[in-house]
Amino acid sequence: MKKKLAIFISGRGSNMNALMKACQTGVLKDLAEIVLVFSNKPSAAGLETAKAAGLSVLALPSKGKKRNQFDQEVVDVLSNYDLDYIILAGYMRILSSVLVDAYKGRIINIHPADTQAHQGLNGYEWAFEKGLKTTKITVHYVDEGLDTGRIIEQYPVDLSSATTLEEVERLGLAVEHANYSQAIKRVIEAN
Ligand code: GRF
Repeated sequence: MKKKLAIFISGRGSNMNALMKACQTGVLKDLAEIVLVFSNKPSAAGLETAKAAGLSVLALPSKGKKRNQFDQEVVDVLSNYDLDYIILAGYMRILSSVLVDAYKGRIINIHPADTQAHQGLNGYEWAFEKGLKTTKITVHYVDEGLDTGRIIEQYPVDLSSATTLEEVERLGLAVEHANYSQAIKRVIEAN
């Protein structure tokens, strides 16, 4: 049986796009299917991409809601989907224990930096401003903290040729897109 994934996004959704391809024709083809693309932002551009690809999409606005209250609403709607994993892909919210406990050990995130060196927003700006020659992308389990969950895998990004923030982002995102589905494959196979 294929594992059922929900992808959580708040914006552009380029990682979601890479995961969609991996499920259709790539490394996740026989292992996983995306049963839902969820967003806390109804205007997230990635929702349109997901819809156009025929996926189920759901948006529940989080604006103005308390973390616990919102996450309880999310848990309630997710109960219809019999999910195996929640995959965060640019989901711009810290999760409360309401959601983390409901999917214990089954929520995964990708972070555009080494989570031990930089947490929170703007991981590529951080690497660029520090002039790093190499940064790391981190795939990790999600807990209630800000990028504090157990690391699953990390991938180096060679930034030695990058002279602008745009180049840093382009190089980093290429590594994200190439590796996120591989990491998920290994998690599924190990469980
Ligand atoms: C990525 O850099 C990801 O690592 C971070 O948020 C960004 C999302 O980009 N968590 P996209 O929406 O997948 O294009």
